[in-house]
Amino acid sequence: MKLALHGGSPTLPETHEFVWPRLTARHKDAVNALLDRTELSYYGREGESEVLEGMWSRRLDGRHTLALTSGTAALHSAFYALGAEPGAEVICPTNTFLATLMPLVQTGATPVLADAEEDTGNIDPASIRAAITERTVGIVVTHLWGHPCEMGEIMKIAEQHGLWVVEDCSHAHGATYEGREVGSIGDAAAISFQSAKLVFAGQGGLFATRDREVFERAVLLGHFRVRAQQDCTTDLSRYASTGFGLNYRMHPLAAAIARVSTEDMDELITQRHARLSRLTERLSAIPGLKTPVTRPGCHRGAYYGYKLRLSEEWLSVPMPQLVSALQAEGLDVHKPGSAPLHTTAFFTDETVPVFQSHEVPRRRYKQGDFPTAERVWSQSLSLPTFTFPDEAPVVEAYADAFEKVYTNLTSLKDDQ
Ligand SMILES: Cc1ncc(COP(=O)(O)O)c(C=O)c1O
Repeated sequence: MKLALHGGSPTLPETHEFVWPRLTARHKDAVNALLDRTELSYYGREGESEVLEGMWSRRLDGRHTLALTSGTAALHSAFYALGAEPGAEVICPTNTFLATLMPLVQTGATPVLADAEEDTGNIDPASIRAAITERTVGIVVTHLWGHPCEMGEIMKIAEQHGLWVVEDCSHAHGATYEGREVGSIGDAAAISFQSAKLVFAGQGGLFATRDREVFERAVLLGHFRVRAQQDCTTDLSRYASTGFGLNYRMHPLAAAIARVSTEDMDELITQRHARLSRLTERLSAIPGLKTPVTRPGCHRGAYYGYKLRLSEEWLSVPMPQLVSALQAEGLDVHKPGSAPLHTTAFFTDETVPVFQSHEVPRRRYKQGDFPTAERVWSQSLSLPTFTFPDEAPVVEAYADAFEKVYTNLTSLKDDQ
């Protein structure tokens, strides 16, 4: 069959546009109930924020939890509260969304990047070890696209060197590593509830930690007066009347939406896995397509992002042309958005104007420094994270379109 790009009929009669999230009547009722009561801000530990924090505390092995304005705020709170400070270095994945490490800039600590593992794209424990210096204080990891990092090895490295570990769980709500839910393994965790995530608030995030004093420091960074007075039980309570400078309180409407989607999350995870397992079954039968791996002992939970790796055979056609051919078939596919961070201007420019009077603490990098992360990124293609039963036929159509493009690779090569 002729490719749509070459004038044939597209596999999907209408271009498929992946839509997430789907709001339910329960989300709307929860928001309307707050609007009816004019419940539009919280100063203490109360209302929908408190309910949300309780739900996540139960999931995360009883950890102290704090609902915040965003995942970025949660990462900033984690770094600040654990002691990322000027002169300190924190080891971070280069292969992640920028917010995993950019809040370090606001603490004065230096992000030190590490390479990725070939199969999962997650931070490579061997690269973490190689990056440790006498200034290293901590490690942040992202459970990329829902796949848990190698936490056994990472926690061992942290213990050997006296480092703390922050888990960025923004892609991996409900994922488990050796039976433990991610976010309950490291010293602290940050979760984004931005609206593309499985558990969504619109904008929102959550901080979690097992350490009382770390929790209280995070409270003081983003809260003052009532909430800080309720939560600060150590000597830090002296500062409850002022806090330490920011307002990171989650909006009640966002908390209500996040609370309802947290109630739904286990069912949504089950549905997403059913759709994506079928997608994997179909795509893995096509030569040269490497479907996402899941290592033994791991569960991908929210599975934020389905990234296909393309073989050399496929990549004999340039990626932009493959994307055009698949899009012409009606597919919503694209190159993953986040290039490895060591290739971005923040890490490659000679100077970066973050501060007016001094250079931002920073290591500089160049293309080629982290070859595995670069390879993983350059060979990856993003597909939708199908979830709902009514998307089952679309999953079949996507696989049909990949089969069609594969059988026509030669004609795409001839275009060049
Ligand atoms: C891995 C990761 N970390 C952090 C964030 C930041 O979350 P937010 O957008 O809620 O600030 C995101 C979100 O998009 C993310 O994908």
